[in-house]
Amino acid sequence: WWKSVQPAAKDPILGVTEAFLADHSPDKVNVGVGAYRDDNGKPVVLECVREAERRIAGNLNMEYLPMGGSMKMVEETLKLAYGENSEFIRDKKIAAVQALSGTGACRLFADFQKRFLPDSQIYIPIPTWSNHHNIWRDAHVAQKTYHYYKPESRGLDFAGLMDDIKNAPNGSFFLLHACAHNPTGVDPTEEQWKEISHQFKDKGHFAFFDMAYQGFASGDPERDAKSIRIFLEDGHQIGIAQSYAKNMGLYGQRVGCLSVVCEDEKQAIAVKSQLQQLARPMYSNPPVHGALIVSSILGDPDLKKLWLKEVKVMADRIIGMRTALRENLEKLGSPLSWKHVTDQIGMFCYSGMTPEQVDRLTNEYHIYMTRNGRISMAGVTTGNVGYLARAIHEVTK
Ligand code: LMR
Repeated sequence: WWKSVQPAAKDPILGVTEAFLADHSPDKVNVGVGAYRDDNGKPVVLECVREAERRIAGNLNMEYLPMGGSMKMVEETLKLAYGENSEFIRDKKIAAVQALSGTGACRLFADFQKRFLPDSQIYIPIPTWSNHHNIWRDAHVAQKTYHYYKPESRGLDFAGLMDDIKNAPNGSFFLLHACAHNPTGVDPTEEQWKEISHQFKDKGHFAFFDMAYQGFASGDPERDAKSIRIFLEDGHQIGIAQSYAKNMGLYGQRVGCLSVVCEDEKQAIAVKSQLQQLARPMYSNPPVHGALIVSSILGDPDLKKLWLKEVKVMADRIIGMRTALRENLEKLGSPLSWKHVTDQIGMFCYSGMTPEQVDRLTNEYHIYMTRNGRISMAGVTTGNVGYLARAIHEVTK
C-alpha cells in the first residue's frame, strides 16, 4: 500500500529537538525550540499552574467540552487580547472558540478562510515561524510574502513592509505577529503599528494576528497587546490566534483560542458555528484539562496576579541572558557587532549566523539551534552562556 511513501523532511524546529535528544555529549546545549527553561536548564511549571491544578483536582470530570471548547476559558482569553472593557466583547461581536494552541488556531482560521473565501491569499512575513507556511499550505490557501526584516540593520524593513502593504490587492489577508516576532525578535514601534494600521484601512486589508508570545516582549501581557488595540481603535475587523504554550508554560496542553471580530452579534454567532463545524470532523472538541487550568488562573484575581508576576520573571531572565551573551562575546574580543542580541526582544535572538556556522556549532560544539541562526534565548543559562559565546565566537571568526 505505501510503496510510494518517502520519509518526510525533518521539521526545521522540532527536528532540532530530536537531534538534541539523540546526542549524548555532556556539553550539549539546546537553544532550538522556543520553550522556557529556568537558570538550571530545567523545564518550568509555573506556581500558578500548580495551584490551579491543586484546586481543580477532584472537581474534574472527564466529560466532553462543547465543539467550541470551554467558553469560560475563551471569555478570559478574549479579555487578555481585546482588553478587560472591550466594546467588542460587550457587544458580542467576537466569534471565538478554544483551539489546539496557536497552531490549531491558525489552522482553523486558514481552513475557515479557504472555505468561505476560496480564492483569497495570505501574505506572510519573511521570515516567519516555519510552521506558518505549512499551515496555510495544508489549508490550500495561496501564499504571498511581504518584507519584514532587514539583514543589514538586523531590524525592521519598515519601508519594504509598507510598500508591500500598499502594493497588495485591496482586501488582502495579512498574517502579523502581534508581538515578539518569531524568529527575528524585531517588532514595529507603536508609531509604526499606527502607520501600518492606517495603511491597512486605506487598502481594506484583513489583519490576522498570531499572538504566541503575549507577555514575552515586555514582561506585561497588557502592553504586549498594543498592536491589536491599535487596530481595534482604528475599527478593523481582525482575527487573533492566542496561545498559552509560552506565557503559561502549558506547551503540551495545547490550549489556545481563535477569535474573529464580526460586524454584529448575528454574524459572530454564524461565524462561531462554522468554526465549530470545521473543528468537529478534525478533532470533534478540544481537550479539557489545559482549558480548566487557564480559566482557574484567569478567573481568580490572586492567581492571575501570581501569573503576571511569573510571566515577568521569565521575560526578565531572558533579558538578563541577552546581556550576558552579548557581554561574553564582546569580552572574547569578537570584532562583530552583537548589539542586536540586546536590541531584539521576546524569546528569540536572530543572530545573523549562516546555516554553515550553525552546522559547525552543532557538529563541533553540540549546540543545537535552527539553521536560520535563531537562538532560543529561553534555553540560555548562566551555566552555558560562556560556552555558547565561545563557540559562537569561534565559528564567526
Ligand atoms: C518555536 O518556534 O520554537 C515554537 O513555536 C515551537 C514550535 O512549535 O515550533
